[in-house]
Amino acid sequence: MTDRQADQWQTVCSRQELQVGRFIEFSLASADQNTDTLPTTGFVFLDSTTPRAYLNQCPHMGIELNWMPGRFMDADNLFLQCSTHGALFKPGDGECIAGPCQGDALIALDIRETGEMLEVRLPE
Ligand code: FES
Repeated sequence: MTDRQADQWQTVCSRQELQVGRFIEFSLASADQNTDTLPTTGFVFLDSTTPRAYLNQCPHMGIELNWMPGRFMDADNLFLQCSTHGALFKPGDGECIAGPCQGDALIALDIRETGEMLEVRLPE
């Protein structure tokens, strides 16, 4: 990743769209510019009242976490869950607390509010 890519903020949705329990998925524009890699997707959601964003990529096998659009939580609605092998991740910091990648973590994206909009970027 170049410094220029790390600086790229990308609008993903409005703050108003991000209701509790809703997950909004997006493609990272900066990742699309790198033709050597597949497009990278991410998701944003409210952790209580705090917006959080992660790459949609399980640390176990590097594949997307969800098998249905917008479905990322476990049955108890406590942890983010990978649909392939069931790894559980803490919503607040993405740490894997159970499953084949226990101790690893999701890659958190930087997130900020600009006016009414939420923007993300790859971490530096
Ligand atoms: S691919 Fe996510 S737990 Fe195996």
